[in-house]
Amino acid sequence: MSIKYDDSHLIPIFRQKDLNNFRPKTVESLNLLINRNGAGNDFLGWLDLPNQKINELSDLLEVGNEIKNSNDLLVCIGIGGSYLGAKAVISSLMPNNNIRFIGNHLSPLELSHLLKELKEKDFYVNVISKSGTTTEPGIAFRIIRELAEKKYGKKSKDRIIVTTDAEKGALKKLADQKRYRKFVIPDNVGGRFSVLTPVGLLPIVAAGLNLKSILKGAKIGLEKSIVDNEENIAIKYACNRSILYSKKKKIEILASMEPQIHYIAEWWKQLYGESEGKEGNGIFPASVDFTTDLHSLGQLIQDGERNIFETFIVIDNYSNDIQIPYDNENIDGLNYLSGKKISFVNMKAYQGTRNAHEEGKVPTSTFHVSELNEENIMELLVIFEIGVTLSAYNLGVNPFNQPGVEAYKNNMFKLLGKPDIT
Ligand code: PA5
Repeated sequence: MSIKYDDSHLIPIFRQKDLNNFRPKTVESLNLLINRNGAGNDFLGWLDLPNQKINELSDLLEVGNEIKNSNDLLVCIGIGGSYLGAKAVISSLMPNNNIRFIGNHLSPLELSHLLKELKEKDFYVNVISKSGTTTEPGIAFRIIRELAEKKYGKKSKDRIIVTTDAEKGALKKLADQKRYRKFVIPDNVGGRFSVLTPVGLLPIVAAGLNLKSILKGAKIGLEKSIVDNEENIAIKYACNRSILYSKKKKIEILASMEPQIHYIAEWWKQLYGESEGKEGNGIFPASVDFTTDLHSLGQLIQDGERNIFETFIVIDNYSNDIQIPYDNENIDGLNYLSGKKISFVNMKAYQGTRNAHEEGKVPTSTFHVSELNEENIMELLVIFEIGVTLSAYNLGVNPFNQPGVEAYKNNMFKLLGKPDIT
């Protein structure tokens, strides 16, 4: 099995009554999802994406391969769900890559660094926005488009690819006018569930990852998560989260033992935060990279307010590993580890940390990824997507809207003097 979920330490701390309450409720939530009659059921297009066939994606493969084979950079401009899925998959599997992400903040510094790099290297641009009107990517695109037009003249149109709505938005209008190549974000897929649309797949292919394996992993994740059986990880995870929340555990810490998968946690935070955090409900999704953060946040997790629970992600096997050498002098006293692999020490750090945090009354469970590859990462992401839907339905909220995201935008627009804002 590629993804395993170990909640054996949680179960003894739940009373049978908790499980009797929450397991059937979670199965009911699964039925709402499968029968497509829960809240937000007009946004369930993501559920069909793992079953896409590779030959339905030939246009995307063609453009993705063109970028990959050019050895040029690809600048992906997007924010939130319009960048986190691709960034999570690519940076976890291919840390040295040709993809640059921008338009996900308003930092003049980062944009300046990128502009400098783009003056020296050839590049394509993929601007990604479902609404086509989001400010951060809009500003970044205006600036990078100007550079592309200066650098490539009329040929810039062949280097700019737009991923947006089929019908509406400023970006769609611009794409039509300038005759850019275009990919569509389906109406019934929200940003944070869009990794398997062109939003995620075009950058993933352009980076050189294997699309077939991505789809295979997604399908495995889906098939395992939509059956009502004891092995269903999405049911177990959602059920455990609901029980813990009912016991006033208001913060979930996703604790990764592998910093290279840092952006999986960033993607997960958006997915869980935006899907659950509404109408006064929701577990706050936080994340840490271990062992790094054991030397900063470890104290609070061990000993602070007991309102947290912890979900580990552990990579069980590494294809790239390093052995600790023997040293005749042994001044550092580390010879007791000589001949051991770093991953072995990391695994002991995980076990020791989990036990320590449990002794500190932090409930824990663990996702085990057998090894880092396209299939396993996509399986994990799909399990998380189904898990959050069940969790949100358990809470009684619509997982697929995000009304709260508008508040800051309206204030910012007023302060900026945007026309037509009341
Ligand atoms: O999940 C969501 O819907 C949001 O986070 C969006 O992805 C984000 O706000 C970007 O929106 P857009 O793709 O319209 O630019």
